[in-house]
Amino acid sequence: MSPRTIAISGASGKTGFRIAEEALASGDQPRLLLRSDSQIPKSLEGCEQQRLSLQDSPALDQALHGADALVIATGARPSVDLTGPMRVDAWGVQRQIESCQRVGLRRVVLVSSLCSGRWRHPLNLFGLILVWKRVGERSLERSGLDWTVIRPGGLSEREDALETEGIVWTGPDQQDSQSIPRRLVARCCLEALETPGSIGRILEVTSNTQQMVQPLSEALLSIDAYGAAAATAR
Ligand SMILES: NC(=O)c1ccc[n+]([C@@H]2O[C@H](COP(=O)([O-])OP(=O)(O)OC[C@H]3O[C@@H](n4cnc5c(N)ncnc54)[C@H](OP(=O)(O)O)[C@@H]3O)[C@@H](O)[C@H]2O)c1
Repeated sequence: MSPRTIAISGASGKTGFRIAEEALASGDQPRLLLRSDSQIPKSLEGCEQQRLSLQDSPALDQALHGADALVIATGARPSVDLTGPMRVDAWGVQRQIESCQRVGLRRVVLVSSLCSGRWRHPLNLFGLILVWKRVGERSLERSGLDWTVIRPGGLSEREDALETEGIVWTGPDQQDSQSIPRRLVARCCLEALETPGSIGRILEVTSNTQQMVQPLSEALLSIDAYGAAAATAR
């Protein structure tokens, strides 16, 4: 099978660069969507790079043209400018989705956040970030594309002993705390791309060493069984 081209926006970010590294490790070709002054680690210097502004629609279309999938790992960086979450997590995501629609790129995975859509949450002190993240998610849900939203818990830089750590996969609004290393979020995004059953779903992810390691396809069965039991109990 020829390698897939996976476009990764926010590929200079701490989750984004790991998504690109993991894509490389699985034999895919990452295409890095970056800003003009974004910095990337040495491990990605040989990858295709597309430097652009998310507001430049023709450049975005050109950057996404011919890619097999897009993983959106952009996110407003902490700043005194409280409009960042609106500009990046809502409108920036929407622009990327519109570009996918224009160029016929169907498969999209969005890195969002636990508690997306909540109004009462301390994280909203940064420009109502959880509210704007939900706006970004909604754009994707309504896009008609083959989408998956990955909502991670608190992100960590930890890289050790990850193989023994299981992912707690749930449907939306089931988890509201706990954390996950960014490297595992990267693997979750790529696993979602390979798991057709993840299309059209919001999946929350945290991790811990007590959790059994299992493939996403199996976790989806548990999520569906839980959903069916909850519906019966209502
Ligand atoms: N921190 C947490 O605990 C946490 C928890 C759950 C979810 N999340 C979400 O997970 C995602 C990844 O988080 P992270 O901490 O790994 O990311 P990060 O290191 O902050 O990286 C953010 C990425 O977004 C890009 N970006 C920011 N503003 C942009 C703009 N206006 N136009 C284009 N690109 C822009 C950055 O590019 P530059 O390198 O050029 O700045 C960078 O590549 C984010 O959406 C974040 O909100 C975070």
